[in-house]
Amino acid sequence: MVLSRSVDEMLAVRIARQLVEASPPADPSDAAERDRAAARLGACRDLIDAAQGRILWGGFNPDQGYDPRAYRLDPDSPIEYFQLTEFEPSVWARLYLSTFMFPGTYEVRQEGNVVVLALDAQFRSDLLPGDYPYPFWHSPNKWTAYVNARKVLLIFRSGRLVASMRQSPPPEALNLIRRRWDAQWSWTDEAGLPQPRVALFSYLFSEDNPHVAALDASYRALEEQFRAQNCVLCHEPDNRSRINDLLLLGYPNQALVMRRTLVTVLEANEMPPGSSLAHAKPGLRDSAVQQELVRLARIFERDADAAMAYEQLKRASRPLQDD
Ligand code: HEC
Repeated sequence: MVLSRSVDEMLAVRIARQLVEASPPADPSDAAERDRAAARLGACRDLIDAAQGRILWGGFNPDQGYDPRAYRLDPDSPIEYFQLTEFEPSVWARLYLSTFMFPGTYEVRQEGNVVVLALDAQFRSDLLPGDYPYPFWHSPNKWTAYVNARKVLLIFRSGRLVASMRQSPPPEALNLIRRRWDAQWSWTDEAGLPQPRVALFSYLFSEDNPHVAALDASYRALEEQFRAQNCVLCHEPDNRSRINDLLLLGYPNQALVMRRTLVTVLEANEMPPGSSLAHAKPGLRDSAVQQELVRLARIFERDADAAMAYEQLKRASRPLQDD
């Protein structure tokens, strides 16, 4: 225990220094500065490798504490439950973590069976709508919490970065901040460009990545089916079905984390879930549709793996950062 604890703490300190360097304070409306921070965070090997392929992200709730396992939905709980969303680590680093700036102060401490890195942080609150991974302001409570976030927490367990949470003052201490939302999760801007721009593969992958065009085509084919089969009714940010470790299927980058489970789930025909109320069995009714989804999911997995592997090689060929 003592050994693994000190390993986690050393890792946390290394990562803290790198995050502070990658995303320093700037004007909260400066999109170019954010894009630079996103590129640096996405290239941060220690951070990405520590998450080992999957990270959970969401709001910190003092009633639930630091261990992400306490954020799995408990329908019987009297408290209002916070839940976490699941991401591929480089997607989270580029799209989400980069919306925070770090002035340089942080603390590393043991909390129960996890090590917590608590970084003082300020949210980039004045970017354009398409600069955010999705319109956080669909919920004024969520937007208010983001804008007022004071810290970003990174949670380590047994040598692994398992989760990250934004920490804000309690909601009753804050004035609600609203931002206009027209009920569109995705849209096209005045120049005819698809938005949010940061959700597109072009924001995640290097310009010279040769796999991105194929990956985009395979995602779009799959996305069409997600919409046709109503998958996005549940797998979208407002999480009406209250999914544990929510997966977002309607945005290219955010969907990358499910490239493997998707194939498994579709082959076993487990989605959409069954309903005990309606005595409905899980799965798609039409086996031709199911087969087609499996086929598209396999192509997506192959193209995503190729694109991700290319970026990983690039990260690995960068010189290690000193500390
Ligand atoms: C009625 C809401 C609902 C619909 C519709 C729905 N899902 Fe899900 N999905 C869920 C829930 C709830 C979970 C989480 C299950 C759990 O936590 O064990 C889930 C989990 C998943 C997972 C992750 C499984 C894992 O273990 O990682 C995948 C992949 C998935 N869904 C894909 C789909 C696809 C594809 C469709 C459309 C064919 C779809 N879902 C439709 C509610 C839904």
